[in-house]
Amino acid sequence: MPFKPTSLLVTGGAGFIGSNFIHSFIAANPGCDVTNLDCLTYAGNLKNLTAVENNPRYRFIKGDICDASLVATILKERSADAVVHFAAESHVDRSITGPEIFVRTNVLGTQVLLEESRRHWQSGAVPDFRYLQISTDEVYGSLGETGYFTEQTPLAANSPYSASKAGADLLVRAYHETYGMPTLNTRCSNNYGPYHFPEKLIPLMIHNIITKKPLPVYGDGLNVRDWLHVRDHAAAVETVLKHAAPGSVYNIGGNNEWKNIDIVHLVCDLLDARLGRSAGENRSLIAFVKDRPGHDRRYAIDASRLKRDLGWGPAYTFERGIAETIDWYLANQEWVAEVTSGAYREYYTQQYGGKQ
Ligand code: NAD
Ligand code: DAU
Repeated sequence: MPFKPTSLLVTGGAGFIGSNFIHSFIAANPGCDVTNLDCLTYAGNLKNLTAVENNPRYRFIKGDICDASLVATILKERSADAVVHFAAESHVDRSITGPEIFVRTNVLGTQVLLEESRRHWQSGAVPDFRYLQISTDEVYGSLGETGYFTEQTPLAANSPYSASKAGADLLVRAYHETYGMPTLNTRCSNNYGPYHFPEKLIPLMIHNIITKKPLPVYGDGLNVRDWLHVRDHAAAVETVLKHAAPGSVYNIGGNNEWKNIDIVHLVCDLLDARLGRSAGENRSLIAFVKDRPGHDRRYAIDASRLKRDLGWGPAYTFERGIAETIDWYLANQEWVAEVTSGAYREYYTQQYGGKQ
């Protein structure tokens, strides 16, 4: 019997993946209310949710996942029978310059959510309950030229960001092993798509090409990432929430490996045509810059367990997904202008100012 939530608490739903998840989940689940708890850091934006903000089944609460009494109140008042936990500090480069907030949000925040979820679940307030932790392939560390991360790969996080996510994953495991709590854990590869904050590779390159700024490629540009469209990630999360056995861990990935420099070339070339620039013009903006410290060389996810057990597979081809993503950024320049004003400029100067 699939698990059918009736009241879902989503954390971090104003961010990139959380907002895409809410869009598709609300549309596909007319029998379920959705509460979005988000404290609106620089990465959270209510403009990502205008399509659902007037839906009577949707409610936004501005608040911090570290606030235990707020979390407890929401779980109780909304009779939440599922939690999908996206909220996080998510950018590796920021974790290198300021790791503390990553530990607070990603480790302590997860512990608060787990603890309040445990109390709520054990109170018997809802007949059935699931807690789903959204995690990342980065918890597995780095691969050489061959091989894939499976769910059995030992955790070997290398950045403060991935270490904080690995710590959170271990807490999730502990709550299942110790209290028997019905937890789920997904670990996904790099996402791309609409509402992606332009500090991450693909939206940063799109934005810099449009504005004719240098395209900073770290190191030799040969690091490999495995790209998945965000709506495919959202569909996979929904599948795991409804169909996976409590206590399970699932990798999510697109079997779509790209060297960074090849992605940058592709985005440059697709935008040459769209911006009416001559062939190769955008590539001249590429600037190789100092490497990211501890830069993981290659990520590649084996998502065969998810396919085998639950029948999930990506719906987007990369060709379609990247073209649609570029077109989305071109059509949503107002959104980009808003999120790249103010604090973004300071971050940008700190991160790239001295490197070019
Ligand atoms: P994001 O940075 O775009 O959004 C994070 C959201 O969390 C924001 O809306 C922010 O306001 C909110 N938030 C941060 N701290 C909070 C707090 N203390 N209380 C409440 N809300 C808070 O992140 P994203 O890229 O959408 O990633 C979402 C989740 O998916 C994260 O857990 C991340 O580790 C994981 N993940 C991301 C990717 C990727 O490629 N982006 C891949 C795999 C897994
Ligand atoms: O693998 C999943 C992870 O993917 C998620 O858990 C993280 O939240 C998400 O941010 C992402 O992490 P990455 O570090 O892989 O993504 P990012 O977009 O920052 O970088 C992708 C690659 O591009 C990486 O090898 C570093 C490189 N890069 C990135 C930036 C921002 C550059 O060469 N230049 C850049 O300016």
